[in-house]
Amino acid sequence: MKEPTRKTPSEIDLSRYTALPALIDPHVHFRTPGGEYKEDWKTGALAAIHGGVTTVCDMPNNTPPCTTLERLEAKRRLIDRQLKMVGIPLHYGLYFGADEKHLDQIPLVADQCVALKIFMGCSTGGLVIESDDALDEAFERAAASGLLVAVHAEDEAILARARIQYRGSKDPATHSLVRPREAAIRATEKAIALAKKHQARLYVLHISTREELDLIRSAKREGVQVYGETTTHHLYFTSEDYARLGTLIQMNPPIREKSDQEALWEALRDGTLDTVGTDHAPHTLEEKQRPYGEAPSGIPGVQTLLPLMLDAVFRGKITLERMVELTHHNPAKILNLPVSDDQVFVDLDVEKRVSDAMMLSRSGWTPYRGMTLRGWPVYTALNNHLFPVSR
Ligand code: DOR
Ligand code: ZN
Repeated sequence: MKEPTRKTPSEIDLSRYTALPALIDPHVHFRTPGGEYKEDWKTGALAAIHGGVTTVCDMPNNTPPCTTLERLEAKRRLIDRQLKMVGIPLHYGLYFGADEKHLDQIPLVADQCVALKIFMGCSTGGLVIESDDALDEAFERAAASGLLVAVHAEDEAILARARIQYRGSKDPATHSLVRPREAAIRATEKAIALAKKHQARLYVLHISTREELDLIRSAKREGVQVYGETTTHHLYFTSEDYARLGTLIQMNPPIREKSDQEALWEALRDGTLDTVGTDHAPHTLEEKQRPYGEAPSGIPGVQTLLPLMLDAVFRGKITLERMVELTHHNPAKILNLPVSDDQVFVDLDVEKRVSDAMMLSRSGWTPYRGMTLRGWPVYTALNNHLFPVSR
């Protein structure tokens, strides 16, 4: 793989571009260890800097899952080696995975990870906390260690019932019923109650429904330390898109209705939501093209975060200032990330059509292909090195 050319900022005239703080993607799955045929940190880092992202926070549903201090340290060594190989000193934070057998590890890793990630319902990989007792204990231990709790909020009992009801379905659109909105609402409600009980800081990941927004809004009003993330795919796709894209837009939690999408945009503007992540969850195109029931859930996104948000700015959905808060200042604060002066230089007037060929993730495809977006990164400055990134 070709290492990107580096120039120092002083060698290039950047005055024609708009300089923004480089983006933080608070939610990626770079698949190391165990899923390197889908992605690793060499391809993940390339995709990130080509999207103006210089910091990512990576999820623990690896093979094996990142649920012990030893595995966390081993994962960090692998990542550092891969980043060195590709010559991109990407900044990163790691989520630590909660599982019932290893909750005693939480105090040991509290200062080495950005948050405790709890899957309240099964998704990709086997990580899940199903019992109420274990969930309570996980919140209690995280709060005692001063560790942020990040939840994948889908209630496993509700998911299990729906799975039986729709067993055997070959229609991708069923996915939004197999993982019904009630599962997300119920789990978010439960997580907020636990955060209140233990005075934990809570980060609700990939919020997809308008009801969850109401829950977050009133919890914030009550003074609960709760933060909300949504994703670019929940902002850009609705269940109407299954007809066109099928399993390519199958992810967990699933895409919802137009009214949810509108509520998510409103919540980005009014401060109910704090961040936009991508939930960059690469799977190969061959895997994604399998029939519904066999295709894995998840889509890549780290490289398209910035152009999608800049296009939203162009269309008047949010202001540029608010976009910077959502994609830089807020994730830095919530996840307690070290300050960097990385920047991305963007051309707000250039229009380009998204294609699979542009994508540097090993997965090599994007559900946004064919969309014309206005506003693209041209250079990304990472630790004083300037990477040309327009393609
Ligand atoms: O769609 C998803 N894919 N949701 C998750 O929670 C996990 C992710 C993955 O790792 O593939
Ligand atoms: Zn995820």
